[in-house]
Amino acid sequence: MVLAHGGSRSSYLATLHQEHPILRTGPNTLSFGSVRAIKDIYGHNTPCSKDGSYILMSGSHFHLADVIDRGEHARKRKVLSMAYAIKHLVAWEHKVADKVERLIKHFDKCCTAPPLDASEMTSPHPKDLHVDFRAWTNFFSLDAIMDIGLSERLGFLDQGNDLVEGQNPDGSLAQLELRECLYPTARKQSLLIWSYKWYRVLNKITNVIPFYRRMSESSKGWDAIVCRRATKRLERYQAGEKLDDFFQALMEDKDGAPHNLPWGETVAEINIMMNAGSVTTAIAIANVMYQLLKNREIMKKLREEIDGAMDPEDVVASYDKVRHLPYLKACLDESLRLWPPTPHGLPRETPSEGIWIMDTFVPGNTTVSISSLVAHRDPTAFSDAEKFIPERWLGEEGKKLQGSFIAFSAGARGCIGRNISYLEQTVILASLLHRYDFALPRGFELRRLETMNHILGEMPVKVWRRMAKA
Ligand code: HEM
Repeated sequence: MVLAHGGSRSSYLATLHQEHPILRTGPNTLSFGSVRAIKDIYGHNTPCSKDGSYILMSGSHFHLADVIDRGEHARKRKVLSMAYAIKHLVAWEHKVADKVERLIKHFDKCCTAPPLDASEMTSPHPKDLHVDFRAWTNFFSLDAIMDIGLSERLGFLDQGNDLVEGQNPDGSLAQLELRECLYPTARKQSLLIWSYKWYRVLNKITNVIPFYRRMSESSKGWDAIVCRRATKRLERYQAGEKLDDFFQALMEDKDGAPHNLPWGETVAEINIMMNAGSVTTAIAIANVMYQLLKNREIMKKLREEIDGAMDPEDVVASYDKVRHLPYLKACLDESLRLWPPTPHGLPRETPSEGIWIMDTFVPGNTTVSISSLVAHRDPTAFSDAEKFIPERWLGEEGKKLQGSFIAFSAGARGCIGRNISYLEQTVILASLLHRYDFALPRGFELRRLETMNHILGEMPVKVWRRMAKA
């Protein structure tokens, strides 16, 4: 709990695991430090299941990510996999392209002509650093997932802020800042979840302390935002609109037969879609841009690949043109490896008879995990693990690394939204690098605060329009 308050628990674990392959991190909790543990803990045939912490953090109804029971999970995943199926790529792409266009509209307004003096690239004038790239990735991924999931135009990219209407339990409406509601909720959970027995009590009594009380208030705001979005989308459904989105898939199967899910379950699914579907992708986009700005030679190589695939007059990259670019994918994966958006060791419970993990017998009903941040620094899989080296993902050697890559977790509980995320990351990165140059403040280091995710601090950048090639 003390480490969680420090905000970089997984990085600390990674250091400890350099010496100790298995760590006891609680009375009944083990943390593993080698990629050899991945299959046993998360693989398709693992006998482990999500542990009790998911119940403690759940709301009135379970959603796809926090349901533990295997049968219930399979039922939900079947309904949801209709919505997340790759065959929807064309519909998603169109929605993602619309959001990239809106982002570009903003960047076009705040960019300047290319610098005459190349030194400006490494040392931009402080007064020019007025775009918080991190915030715009948040607006982008929120706008995108709301359109993909609920066909709603949230409009954050047009407004330039995340003010949104929420609906309180008494039906009253309020204007709320989305990120201010979402992030503290997750932070409080991550600070207090370490003793399952005491979690609910601690969650209540800590509210006497303003630091924690503010986080609890935020959680009410988040529920109000989700409630408003869900209610508005239901009204459109009831008015007979047939829209190509997740909500439609939650209501009916492909032949139009109703699923008849309880309303609370539908809202829970919307909740996780809005949360998991936006925060992580925004972190991924900001992280990869940060790495590229810190590693200009890699950026140059990537840009050559992108420029070769896009026409000079292209504004938003079409997914077809850039999806198979090997170096682009390698840069995305290397950034997800180095700073996985969800570094928290995802807790799994061993079956009552116990199991062997990394040649060690672990008794039944023990919580076990391997943090993605720790796995991705295992030197047996990733040499020079602290360095940003996209080349490691290329060719046959690169393919072999995929088994040790758990940014999206693995197995039956692996991320259902990874295709959507890659689509978003690929299209936005290719489009932005094709059109602009960026620079960070001199000596800038990105701040990261670990909750379940790695929440990023501000990322001020200077934006230049690239010189159009003759
Ligand atoms: C870079 C982007 C993303 C990362 C790093 C990421 C990471 C993860 C991870 C680590 C898990 C496992 C969670 C656990 O075991 O507790 C997960 C599950 C999940 N993710 Fe993602 N995710 C990303 C994008 C998305 C998107 C775009 C969506 C939705 C559109 C999404 C929806 C979900 C859902 C619903 C689950 C639960 C799946 C299940 O248990 O069957 N994620 N994700």
